[in-house]
Amino acid sequence: MATPRDYDADPERFRLAARVTERYLSGGRGQHERVAEVLTVAGADLILDIGCGEGALSAALPAPARRRVVGLDASATMLGRHPLPAVRAEATALPFAAGVFDAAVAVNVLHHLDDPVAAIGEAHRVLAPGGVFVTASPSRLDSPELSHLWRPEPSSFDAEDAPRLVAEVFGRVETEWWDAPLIVLPDERAVRDYLIARCVPPEVASAAVSRVRTPITVTKRGAFVYGYR
Ligand SMILES: C[S@@+](CC[C@H](N)C(=O)[O-])C[C@H]1O[C@@H](n2cnc3c(N)ncnc32)[C@H](O)[C@@H]1O
Repeated sequence: MATPRDYDADPERFRLAARVTERYLSGGRGQHERVAEVLTVAGADLILDIGCGEGALSAALPAPARRRVVGLDASATMLGRHPLPAVRAEATALPFAAGVFDAAVAVNVLHHLDDPVAAIGEAHRVLAPGGVFVTASPSRLDSPELSHLWRPEPSSFDAEDAPRLVAEVFGRVETEWWDAPLIVLPDERAVRDYLIARCVPPEVASAAVSRVRTPITVTKRGAFVYGYR
């Protein structure tokens, strides 16, 4: 059920996904901008970004806050492009003392874990009282307009399950859904890249694009879940 990780074997697939979102996002804010806003409003000082990737959250934060982000990731390749401090570790075994962070974030990470609740428990442990845990995950019903070509594989942390799983650890939980026509793919090349970014093999994606009329607007669905310590 956990989504396989390809961040060291094929980092260009992840980078393509980031470029596709940036290029074709239409009329909405990115996830990292929303999380940066939540952290700013919460007044979070020291922030742990679990599964930080190459630093998209850090880049979305205002410059002073950026210096107070600790990036943590299991992939050496991803960490190589994250600003320091950056720590290589597993989300289920955070190498920090209890109660030291004001915020712990895991954006599009927990679906890679067989046991996401173990990682949520670790996030809870390293948060100070009053700290906030922020996570984001896509829905099983993401991108319905492309469902004849591709469906998301069910994962261990789909948006539909995320509030319940976070509530196994945190006493107070809030959920904020997104469900909107956020991506406009202008041509077959863009559709192909969108599918490859979602782990469709390139030859399958190339063959599939002829079954889509472009431009096509794609509905993005998922949820932010907040846990308060
Ligand atoms: C889809 S990327 C998201 C990166 C970043 N959070 C973002 O939103 O741009 C998932 C990241 O989680 C990391 N990751 C996956 N499983 C992990 C684990 N068990 N412990 C730490 N990091 C993990 C991967 O290496 C990858 O960098």
